[in-house]
Amino acid sequence: MTVLDSTITQRIDAMRPHFPTEQALLIPLLHEIQGKAGWISRDAMQEAASYLHLPLSKVLEVVTFYTMFNTKPVGKKHIQVCTNVACFLRGADQLVASLEKRLGVHAGETTADQRYTLSEVECLAACGTAPCMQVNDDYHENLTEESLKTLMDKFDQEFQ
Ligand code: FES
Repeated sequence: MTVLDSTITQRIDAMRPHFPTEQALLIPLLHEIQGKAGWISRDAMQEAASYLHLPLSKVLEVVTFYTMFNTKPVGKKHIQVCTNVACFLRGADQLVASLEKRLGVHAGETTADQRYTLSEVECLAACGTAPCMQVNDDYHENLTEESLKTLMDKFDQEFQ
């Protein structure tokens, strides 16, 4: 099944005049693919490479370099907790432990009901408001055990 539909290709084609090279369109294209599919499969990488006339190795390089790109399916809510220095010093490890206990998974895993994927990530560039995490496209900063619980209760409610 092809991932690159006409909606995606039209958007990328509209950007083309504003980008200096085909390679420069790769990240916007990968965002489009992930926005549609939730992750970027090897087949989708091949489609992206063909569409932009790039070697597959170039697409692989980019997809595997940035943690924002998922190389395997994720749950409906992808919780990415920063555990880099500033967040670590302000309790990120405890937050990860709380989430692992609550969700019954380890970091890097998805719950059996496919609702949540828990990941540890490097700096989310919100060090001044550490500890922080990203859930899908939204940032949640200055987290505490209490605010995390409130947030997770809210997410659970959204699934009811
Ligand atoms: S160390 Fe966590 S956002 Fe920078």
